Amino acid sequence: MVKVLLVLSILLALSSSSLGDLVPQIKDFGAKTIHISATLGGISHIAWTLEIGTVLAQRGHNVSFITTDPNVKFGVPYQPEIKTISMGPHVSTVEFRDMFDVEQIFSKSVSKAYQTLLEDTYQRDYYAYYHLFESSKTDIVICDQLSLPCFDAAHQLKIPMIIHMTMSLSEDTKAPFITSFFTDGPPTSRDLSFTQRFYNRFIALPAFLYRFHPVAKTIKEMRAKTGIIKGFGPLERHSGVIKMINGFWGMESPRPVGPFVEYVGPIIGSTYTSLPENMKQFLDQHLNVVYIAFGQMYSPSGKEFKVLLTSLLEAYEANILDGFIWSFSLKSRQQSDLPKQIQTRSGSIYIVEDLFRGDRDPNLRFEAWSPQFAILNHAHCKLFVSHGGASSIHESLFNGVPLLLHPFTSDQPANAYSMQEAGVGLSLDRKAHDLTGTMEKMQRILLDKDGKFMLNMESMQALVQLKSRKKYHAADMIEEVLHSVRDRNNIWYRREVVENMAMFQASNWDINLAALGGLIGFIVIVCKTFIALLKLPLVQPRKLKYT
Ligand SMILES: *[C@@H]1O[C@H](CO)[C@@H](O)[C@H](O)[C@H]1NC(C)=O
Repeated sequence: MVKVLLVLSILLALSSSSLGDLVPQIKDFGAKTIHISATLGGISHIAWTLEIGTVLAQRGHNVSFITTDPNVKFGVPYQPEIKTISMGPHVSTVEFRDMFDVEQIFSKSVSKAYQTLLEDTYQRDYYAYYHLFESSKTDIVICDQLSLPCFDAAHQLKIPMIIHMTMSLSEDTKAPFITSFFTDGPPTSRDLSFTQRFYNRFIALPAFLYRFHPVAKTIKEMRAKTGIIKGFGPLERHSGVIKMINGFWGMESPRPVGPFVEYVGPIIGSTYTSLPENMKQFLDQHLNVVYIAFGQMYSPSGKEFKVLLTSLLEAYEANILDGFIWSFSLKSRQQSDLPKQIQTRSGSIYIVEDLFRGDRDPNLRFEAWSPQFAILNHAHCKLFVSHGGASSIHESLFNGVPLLLHPFTSDQPANAYSMQEAGVGLSLDRKAHDLTGTMEKMQRILLDKDGKFMLNMESMQALVQLKSRKKYHAADMIEEVLHSVRDRNNIWYRREVVENMAMFQASNWDINLAALGGLIGFIVIVCKTFIALLKLPLVQPRKLKYT
């Protein structure tokens, strides 16, 4: 039987191969000049786009990374495939971190920071982009979501443009933006009460718009100074610009999006720094290691630090973990409100300075910097305590490490919510300073009594690893735009049909209204007839009764 099947399948293979010998070929469309840009947001806004850029460079395109001096270092690992071009130093007093306020999301200092940044950088950047694009005959520009001068220069020169984003911010995907970004809340309104939803839409949103109105004014002023009369909103649904997001369903709440939205994440680097020998030994020798890191921009307050460290020490004393690696910069260690010592509930006292120096206990390590991916990649790393930045989450999930999240602001609260929702992590309320709760959550993940975290993580890890191939899809999409635009920058094939429809036609209001009219007319006729019919027998039986 087996033999027969074998012969059959060989015959089949032979016959099918002889069926066709014409192999469809894709034309060589030629090499193009591609510019990728980001000036703010650091490595999390840059590395993943340069990963895509590398794929494009390997396909023969001329790819450059345009940035400012402080970010030139992020381009180094991608040379020589991608050339780095600097527009000059960072010319503003405002730094990226000033654009977020972890205590009050509507703070005036944030909108002021945006204004100052625009005033300081817009013109320099606009002219730099403009001359670069013009002189190098750029075929496509891939601008960071925050880089207004990049959009404007590309738009003025009619160069096709793609916006790269680390989170959904466009009008095509605004559902989470409205509910979470203004309020540091969950990414969907599913679990919100009526009052919360009402508050978000009719109080938080207008308050946000009011607060950021001056920024819109500054944008107008800056554009006017460079001679741009009619600005455009690249994030708008009908702007004709593709929004390329380093995210995926499973982390972003699934929902319908427009044809100009592409989720291409999570993009993982092709190489990472490996473990130094002493850290490798440490991880080899400890079985349950917790890794703690809050990214380059955020640092817990003294109170938060105390709760986190106490929980970790108590979990260590209870043998739930046998060591930790806390990536804590030297600068953060200078923070004036850090506690001098920690006392656990067992009565043990730990001098914080000793812990920093590594004198107290070799199992408890504080590092000024650490190779995050390599640590997460080690089988003995069992938990990642993180701020919940997208890249950190991607790296953790890729390596199957569950998360305990301590979100500050921006996309982090929404990310934390999604990880909890996906059952691969738990989220802390940073402001609650709840020692018991923090300890309990740490314990729940590390002990994983019913095996739920492990089970959920298995499928999540598969999802993330498979989705990380999407950088090739992103490169395909960029090539697709490069070669199929019309009239220089018209991505015609993605334009929504409703763009050229009257509003009432697009929403079907005209026919709905006609149908409603018809239905009402029909009901009126039926009622009238019924009443007319009713009148007859009402009169007749009486007549019968009295005769
Ligand atoms: C490649 O791009 C750079 C600018 O990024 C440009 O100066 C150069 O002329 C381009 N080379 C080719 C062959 O198009």
